[in-house]
Amino acid sequence: MVYQGNKNRISKFLVPIIQKYIDDNNIKTYIEPMVGGANIIDKIVCENKVGGDINSELIALLQYIQTDNEIFIAPEMCTFEHYADVRENRRLHTNKYSMKYTALIGYCASYGGRYFDGGYGRDSKGGRSIYNERVKNLKEQAPHLKDIKFRCCDYKSFIGYKDCLFYFDPPYKDTKQYSIQNINYDEFYDFLRQLSKNNIVLVSEYNMPNDFKCIWQRERKVQQKSDRVAAEKATEKLFIYNE
Ligand SMILES: C[S@@+](CC[C@H](N)C(=O)[O-])C[C@H]1O[C@@H](n2cnc3c(N)ncnc32)[C@H](O)[C@@H]1O
Repeated sequence: MVYQGNKNRISKFLVPIIQKYIDDNNIKTYIEPMVGGANIIDKIVCENKVGGDINSELIALLQYIQTDNEIFIAPEMCTFEHYADVRENRRLHTNKYSMKYTALIGYCASYGGRYFDGGYGRDSKGGRSIYNERVKNLKEQAPHLKDIKFRCCDYKSFIGYKDCLFYFDPPYKDTKQYSIQNINYDEFYDFLRQLSKNNIVLVSEYNMPNDFKCIWQRERKVQQKSDRVAAEKATEKLFIYNE
């Protein structure tokens, strides 16, 4: 799914690293507490897979897609007027549209996966429909979501788990936050240290405190602004907690 901060482009590097930790350590449960567009978990092979996220509309959509790979609720097209109506009803909490439908329109018809923050994703000249392409991509992803247990929860609810592999992909510190919740990063780091006592814990970030070891890195271009001007370089890294 096109999603703000999604790891689709670098999944070909991250997935083999994560998968090797799972296989080498005979891990039976893989947990991704900030699953977003499920662009990593959908490629992982493990007996049990759990995807959590604090965003209830996102989780409602992912759970729905598991029951309907053809996504029958998706309208054939999504005009700006319809997009704006869904956005306004969401803002006013009217319940005119279900959470899953709101999420579908928000992710597929917004610019750059920025959800309703990003504005309507206008179709380009040659008749290319951003909305239709995204729905098509979601249908292609759907069969790969089947064996995942999706849960709407805060990452902290995973305290107490043992012998699992956790992969965290938080909103990057000091970059644009998601509307749902700001993260207290010091608390987050402490949580990861605790969790690492009984689990393997991997984290995607640009920077982490010194007691986390970087095991992979790659420079990439990031675009955070919907005006496409602010493309800047950043180094994507994968960390493990180094006790
Ligand atoms: C960078 S995105 C994950 C992208 C995902 N890896 C992908 O490839 O699509 C970060 C996610 O963290 C979620 N999030 C933010 N705060 C959270 C919290 N306290 N607990 C759980 N999830 C949270 C956001 O809703 C968002 O979906």
